[in-house]
Amino acid sequence: MRLGVDFGTTRTTVAAVDRGNYPVVAFHDEEDDVRDYIPSLVALDGDHPVFGFLARDLALEGVPHLRSMKRFLADTATTTTTTVRLGNRDLNLLGLVTGFLAEVAHAVRTSSSIAEIPEDEPLEAVVGVPAHAHSGQRFLTLEAFHRAGFTVVGMLNEPSAAGLEYTHRHASTVTSRRDRILVYDLGGGTFDASLVAVDGAVHEVLGSRGNNLLGGDDFDVVLAQLVAHTARTTAGDLGERKWTALIDAAREAKESLSPQSRFLTLDVDDRPVSVSAADFYEAARPLIASTIQTMELLIRDDEADAGAASGTATADLAGIYVVGGGSELPAIPRALRERYGRRVHRSPHTGASTAIGLALSADPDAGYTLRERLSRGVGVFRERESGSLVSFDMILSPQMRVSTSKSVTATRAYRAAHNIGWFRFVEYTTTDVDGVPRGAVMPIGEVIMPFDPLIQGLDDTVDLRAIEVRRTEDGPMIEERYTVDPHGIVEVSLTDLDTGFVLTRSLAGKGL
Ligand SMILES: Nc1ncnc2c1ncn2[C@@H]1O[C@H](COP(=O)(O)OP(=O)(O)OP(=O)(O)O)[C@@H](O)[C@H]1O
Ligand SMILES: [Mg+2]
Repeated sequence: MRLGVDFGTTRTTVAAVDRGNYPVVAFHDEEDDVRDYIPSLVALDGDHPVFGFLARDLALEGVPHLRSMKRFLADTATTTTTTVRLGNRDLNLLGLVTGFLAEVAHAVRTSSSIAEIPEDEPLEAVVGVPAHAHSGQRFLTLEAFHRAGFTVVGMLNEPSAAGLEYTHRHASTVTSRRDRILVYDLGGGTFDASLVAVDGAVHEVLGSRGNNLLGGDDFDVVLAQLVAHTARTTAGDLGERKWTALIDAAREAKESLSPQSRFLTLDVDDRPVSVSAADFYEAARPLIASTIQTMELLIRDDEADAGAASGTATADLAGIYVVGGGSELPAIPRALRERYGRRVHRSPHTGASTAIGLALSADPDAGYTLRERLSRGVGVFRERESGSLVSFDMILSPQMRVSTSKSVTATRAYRAAHNIGWFRFVEYTTTDVDGVPRGAVMPIGEVIMPFDPLIQGLDDTVDLRAIEVRRTEDGPMIEERYTVDPHGIVEVSLTDLDTGFVLTRSLAGKGL
């Protein structure tokens, strides 16, 4: 069975490949109601973790639970051994994500809208990750899917998948003059904007920008704060349990808003409190403005790339595709239409667009080809001048073309000027005019490479950090080779071309 699986911060959505159709898989919740998602939730039932719908019901009863597992994966400090606190227990994060995905696999096989799938038939999935997911996040996501019993046949950036779904649905809006789609994806925990160029069945992701820390969940917090303020109380005064209950109530009230709604009424500490929808939208304005600003930056990058005049990239847009459950909020399409007019299209399945696109890409018969960009830069801080100065080199640009079917490499060679090379690798989202990384900069690995053949000959027990960095004349020729695999995970290989000494490291985060 081939599937697209969108492991979301708040909801996980699955679409199947079924003879040229890509139905969204429906699941039965604990009350036997049909849902087109599984809540991405873990709760502690007595002593053991439970997942999905059961976890949601227990969470509503006040049982210790964990939301937004996916946000923890975005933290560069997270490794395979990271634990999270659940109730009074420390549990392995990767184990929890694996347990959750195993529950998704089990539900797909046994209690979903597709016919029962025997245990021996593989679940071949294309899975999504946020466009800006760093190498470690990609690695942990793959690992969890693998341990949960999926056969991962591909990993795509979520907005690229939504772009596929757009052209599948709105092929006629794409013309030779207007051949770009801007995907606006506001999920529960992340925002991504991607520019996709379409040429027949070939989709090329031209660029992507996003914010891993902005999503629909943040609108819940804004609403809860507004309501608390109206009730003359604060999160601190309410205490954790009541504040969590208020955020839950805020999510529910937000999701029930229609374009006609005038007021929202929520219980604060068992007392009903009303705020106007207009006040809520006003309080949420900075969040919406920041998503639009991210889109504008993406468009400006593209114009700068092409050396085009300001405004031309906007004119080339076939459509702005609004996806992600967070964009159901009426104020969002309204703000986008004010800015971009009639080309704003809302997906008929805002919450399932990514999963459908992933399923499209899992179907070899659909005939779509996707070309991706790295979407985040990789650079290195290294010692200069006997270790007293540190310089920054950009290695892979966010615009680098990568492939979802094969590895892509970049190499450079130089003569070493020190006895030891100390490389601190980072991933970053943008650089300033001087080429210095700005915005989110995440350490992804440290490599200490002995250039001096005498040091290369030392055994593993010697701590290279203790050796003083010195300048040398006539150092060896060093080749740095960077490989980006089809899942977007970067590996570095440092080779001394004179002695053949090689060091290879996956830059998938610390300790992996
Ligand atoms: N009718 C609605 N009105 C407003 N917001 C909604 C509505 N339905 C869902 N949402 C919000 O959509 C968000 C979930 O969206 P979605 O399912 O696309 O996210 P996700 O895939 O779980 O997260 P991410 O893509 O960030 O990993 C939540 O914040 C939820 O409150
Ligand atoms: Mg999503």
